[in-house]
Amino acid sequence: MFIAFEGIDGSGKTTQSKLLAKKLNYFWTYEPTDGIVGNLIRQILKGKYKVDSKTLTLLFAADRFEHNKIIRKNLKRGVVCDRYIFSSLAYQGLDVDEEYILNINKGIIMPDITILLVVDIDIALKRLKSSDIFEKRDFLEKIQKKYLELSKRYNFIVIDTTDKDVYETHKEILKKVKACL
Ligand SMILES: Nc1ncnc2c1ncn2[C@@H]1O[C@H](COP(=O)(O)OP(=O)(O)O)[C@@H](O)[C@H]1O
Ligand SMILES: [Mg+2]
Repeated sequence: MFIAFEGIDGSGKTTQSKLLAKKLNYFWTYEPTDGIVGNLIRQILKGKYKVDSKTLTLLFAADRFEHNKIIRKNLKRGVVCDRYIFSSLAYQGLDVDEEYILNINKGIIMPDITILLVVDIDIALKRLKSSDIFEKRDFLEKIQKKYLELSKRYNFIVIDTTDKDVYETHKEILKKVKACL
């Protein structure tokens, strides 16, 4: 079983994916990874280097192919991943063709379940502590819209975390996931 969490920054992905992995005793992992490509991506996102959006899209795909070796090793136990392919479609999809993104990601393991966490943008901003180039208000709004559009075409479990505390959200996620196991 492979479960991926998606959503804008501050939606609760890291908190909720860790809680779910702990509860199910699944392997927890995240993207971008801590591998060589993942670390390069983090530096780009922090603004250290400026690259073309297609370059960044390719780097995310490369990081994912490396990540797939780790995911594959843990599939039997179960894997929960904080961000995956739909992050590429939501973020890079703003200025790169969806078809191109799907093409360069062809062959990756697809999640069995994708959970999209949605949240009121102002609440998300309040929850956020750090700031990088992906955390501006209009930008968060645009990305969340894109995620919701993707949720209509792909079969996501959508959960609104706006008025829920961490535990309530966890309970709702667990209920919905258990119905799919
Ligand atoms: N319902 C909720 N679910 C998850 N996190 C929440 C919730 N309500 C408040 N938070 C807080 O929001 C902050 C951001 O959560 P985080 O998991 O880091 O989000 P993301 O990984 O999506 O950026 C954390 O400090 C977390 O405790
Ligand atoms: Mg996070």
